[in-house]
Amino acid sequence: MATGKKRKAKSRAWLDRQNRDPYVQKARKSGYRARAAYKLEEIDQKFRLIKPGQTVIDLGAAPGSWSQYAVRKMGDKGQLIMLDLLPFDEIEGAQLIQGDFTEPETLSKINSLTEGRLFDLVLSDMAPNITGIALQDQARYERLLESVLTFCETALRPGGVLLTKFFEGESAQVIRSTKKARINQFKTIKPDASRTHSKELYLLALNRK
Ligand SMILES: C[S@@+](CC[C@H](N)C(=O)[O-])C[C@H]1O[C@@H](n2cnc3c(N)ncnc32)[C@H](O)[C@@H]1O
Repeated sequence: MATGKKRKAKSRAWLDRQNRDPYVQKARKSGYRARAAYKLEEIDQKFRLIKPGQTVIDLGAAPGSWSQYAVRKMGDKGQLIMLDLLPFDEIEGAQLIQGDFTEPETLSKINSLTEGRLFDLVLSDMAPNITGIALQDQARYERLLESVLTFCETALRPGGVLLTKFFEGESAQVIRSTKKARINQFKTIKPDASRTHSKELYLLALNRK
């Protein structure tokens, strides 16, 4: 098949899959910008993570469905910061930072919004761009996860909660980095809304020491 035809067939298959996906349909009806909202909803309903009055950050927030869900739960009480590399539309009730989370200047922006207050809840759904080269992709996944856990060492309050995406194959690093971040207990979760072929998993750390 010629490359153009192949590309067309691929995007048609993607569209078909989107149209058949019950989470995509639900998200459209509820006004969520992405089906990803249901991964957070499922974990939140089980573990009651998001409460009014909290200080919360949503890392890798674009297009914004996790923040939409969080704002619905928090109302106008508390502070929600959403951050992404990419530009994306604001959400009423949340503060937006556009920047690379691994860059020190982005961390300074976060700090100036919280005025040094510690977070009750750190959410991260960050995922790097995939190159298709296994070793490079693995290094990217690891760098992002490491940056989230390092951030929690100083920015997550004792007793605070971290929910972060990670990818299969990172288990050894997860154990090393969680120890460093004084996270002694964590759960690994694969929400129903996460596609079965996806290598993504979520790490939930409750009650950081
Ligand atoms: C799966 S999407 C997040 C979807 C989002 N949770 C939602 O519900 O709409 C992953 C996001 O991580 C962001 N990302 C990846 N690396 C990042 C980095 N170094 N700093 C900030 N954002 C990053 C990407 O730009 C992308 O928008």
